[in-house]
Amino acid sequence: MTRGPHLVLVGLMGAGKTTVARRCADRLGRSVVDTDELVEAALGASVAEIFARDGEATFRELERRAVEDACASPEPAVVACGGGAVLDGENRRRMREAGLVVWLDAPPEVLAARVEGAGDRPLLTGGDPVEALRRLAELREPAYRAAAHAVVDTTERDADDAADAVVAVFEGAPA
Ligand code: S3P
Repeated sequence: MTRGPHLVLVGLMGAGKTTVARRCADRLGRSVVDTDELVEAALGASVAEIFARDGEATFRELERRAVEDACASPEPAVVACGGGAVLDGENRRRMREAGLVVWLDAPPEVLAARVEGAGDRPLLTGGDPVEALRRLAELREPAYRAAAHAVVDTTERDADDAADAVVAVFEGAPA
């Protein structure tokens, strides 16, 4: 089956998807489509507000629509997916059909340090973020593995290095 033209980034919160997507988009002369931003624009509310007001199930429903819209984007884009989007099998199928899916990976300790003070993440509030990320990593690893065509380890990479590595994978990948 032929893959679509998009570059799709997945990974846990703190993996750097949004920032790395922007850097990749600069390098490739593309725009970024961010599924969290699509959900927020659809409801005129932040992800945290949607979780608090409507619940996670409603967020996931909206996220499914956002993944579908992002993957259907007519211009080749860099698509940054919210960390939990890979849990849905239909989302994974759409991502893999839409283009090359790259998993940005790092250990929970590194992810926790990166998310500290960076936005409101409902799944990381009210507890130890390292523990929460460890649990999510364990639960989600099979889904990231199933979604991704390639993995880029961002543990020792800043956003620019990670973007260079992702673009190298993207440009080197067989169509
Ligand atoms: C989530 C990740 C968040 C956002 C929501 C749920 C998750 O996106 O979609 O808070 O389930 O991992 P980022 O990964 O962009 O922070």
